[in-house]
Amino acid sequence: MRHLLSIADLNRADALSILDTAVELARISDAPVKKLPTLRGKTIVNLFFEDSTRTRISFEAAAKRLSADVINFSAKGSSVSKGESLKDTAQTLQAMGADAVIIRHSASGAAQWLADSHWIGGSVINAGDGTHEHPTQALLDAFTIRKHLGSTSGDLKGLHIAIVGDILHSRVARSNVLLLSLLGAEVTLVAPPTLLPMGVQTWPVKVSYDFDSVLPHVDAVMMLRVQQERMQDLFFPTAREYSHFFGLNRDRLSLMKKSSIIMHPGPMNRGLEITAECADSARSVIVEQVANGVSVRMAVLYLLLAGAQQEQGGLLA
Ligand code: NCD
Repeated sequence: MRHLLSIADLNRADALSILDTAVELARISDAPVKKLPTLRGKTIVNLFFEDSTRTRISFEAAAKRLSADVINFSAKGSSVSKGESLKDTAQTLQAMGADAVIIRHSASGAAQWLADSHWIGGSVINAGDGTHEHPTQALLDAFTIRKHLGSTSGDLKGLHIAIVGDILHSRVARSNVLLLSLLGAEVTLVAPPTLLPMGVQTWPVKVSYDFDSVLPHVDAVMMLRVQQERMQDLFFPTAREYSHFFGLNRDRLSLMKKSSIIMHPGPMNRGLEITAECADSARSVIVEQVANGVSVRMAVLYLLLAGAQQEQGGLLA
């Protein structure tokens, strides 16, 4: 495989190989010198048309720890704001010899479009396309769950994960549903009916509108940001009512299993989908998710770029 566009492109062995490689590479992040020469001489472009803090920085740190050169492109302040098309931007990047392009875009399908176009010769990695997918986020979430609750080498069989909140607008939820079920976990979506996508009945999940009844049974609760920037309509009456039914708070924390963990991809709306107390509680692994993101992205870059270079037909080749 040359690109990482969707979790749907991975089979179980591919997914486990990324997670296992990330375990190996995480050791580098703990070493005093956080660098491997593997991608020396490679150019990686971060092409971000939507705002991002952690994902962009995380990819940048991952690429640098593998000794690649990184070019950061953000649409704001670039020729895109003068009306340049994605095609022209892509051709410019190609002319600069990009070996990989990491793209975030508000249009679902943008990463696929870039990969299918012949404007880019290298690998394309989807860092979030509209409401469609965010595969490296799901991989870092699975890595985090496995680290806390699974066996270090195995899959996620026997675990039950709740994904809670604005499923409708969430690419994180879509990628996670695919990956968690691929790895054998049971997934329950918890949301108001207005924030569930059409066709959710065909997804490999259970659906509940009753957060309290789900909480005692889950091993991890993954809270989602309410994506106000993607909401043109009113999806719930008031923020207060949303928090009352679907927010994680102290009372709900007490319903959870002692061994269970709290996750959130960030950025959080503290006080809306999660209280500060829960976000900062001992059970929260939210900050660790960010650290794990670097190891997982190193693994993806390594398998896509170094694997091809060595022509060993690496696991993603
Ligand atoms: C997510 C995203 O951008 O899709 N954030 C992230 O990548 N850390 C989730 C979100 O924006 O709510």
